[in-house]
Amino acid sequence: MKNKFRQIDNCIENRGSATVEGGISSVDSKSVDGRGLGRREAVTGLLAGAATIALGAVGCRGPEKSHATPPPPRAREPRPRAEGGPFSLPDLPYASDALDPFISQKTFSFHHGKHHLGYVNNTNRLIANTSYSGKDLETIIRESHKNRQEDMAIFNNAAQTYNHTFFWNSLIPGGGGEPTKELAGAIKAEYGNYEKFKETLIRAAAGQFGSGWAWVVYDGAKIEIESTSNAGTPIATGKVPLLTIDVWEHAYYLDYQNRRVDYVESVLNHLANWERANKLYLAAKG
Ligand SMILES: [Fe+2]
Repeated sequence: MKNKFRQIDNCIENRGSATVEGGISSVDSKSVDGRGLGRREAVTGLLAGAATIALGAVGCRGPEKSHATPPPPRAREPRPRAEGGPFSLPDLPYASDALDPFISQKTFSFHHGKHHLGYVNNTNRLIANTSYSGKDLETIIRESHKNRQEDMAIFNNAAQTYNHTFFWNSLIPGGGGEPTKELAGAIKAEYGNYEKFKETLIRAAAGQFGSGWAWVVYDGAKIEIESTSNAGTPIATGKVPLLTIDVWEHAYYLDYQNRRVDYVESVLNHLANWERANKLYLAAKG
């Protein structure tokens, strides 16, 4: 997929086409729809129409086929929606194919559209007509964590609803690499250097037995790395999450099969949203 877009970019840059370049320049801004869509989405949108024809006219090969007649537009997947209740499934903060090839659209269709949706629906159903009804999600998580002998199902589903929303926002196209700004200094103070920090985070993610999460958190004084099992979440114990990686198999199995470490390394090298983590760190630190 990546090569496909590189090929198109090269073609546009090398040959030029008023139709294609004009179309891209009009939408190749930081955000097309306010959700951070960029050049790739702009090119995707153009492929179904004039772009394919224009590329053919200047002798450039399209990404896959050079038919004179463009293929019919692909039907959009229906937007997943929660059933009735106070909580809804948030949209992804990027297009569902924006993290390809590191996390595929197919994984998102199940992970966001089925698993996350299921946790939201279960939370709405389980809290109806209980003392949790009318409370915000974080309060429900903290209170059900205290009463988890009786309210384990509510905690599990409410925490998974929260954790997944946090996870989507922990990722960003073109992210990854070393954190910068104040967070970089805090990491260095605690771990010595980024490599040691990364190694510790990978070990926490890989070492979490069964399903769970790896987290970078602020404990009120310093940066910490921790893992939680199943639906465990740092907000239940008063810590401030800065970044998380879902290490349930449903998060990576379609793309990486059993290679959890490869998936975690892809997240850290290409997707981690350290800019947001830094903002959360500064807000928590005060
Ligand atoms: Fe998940």
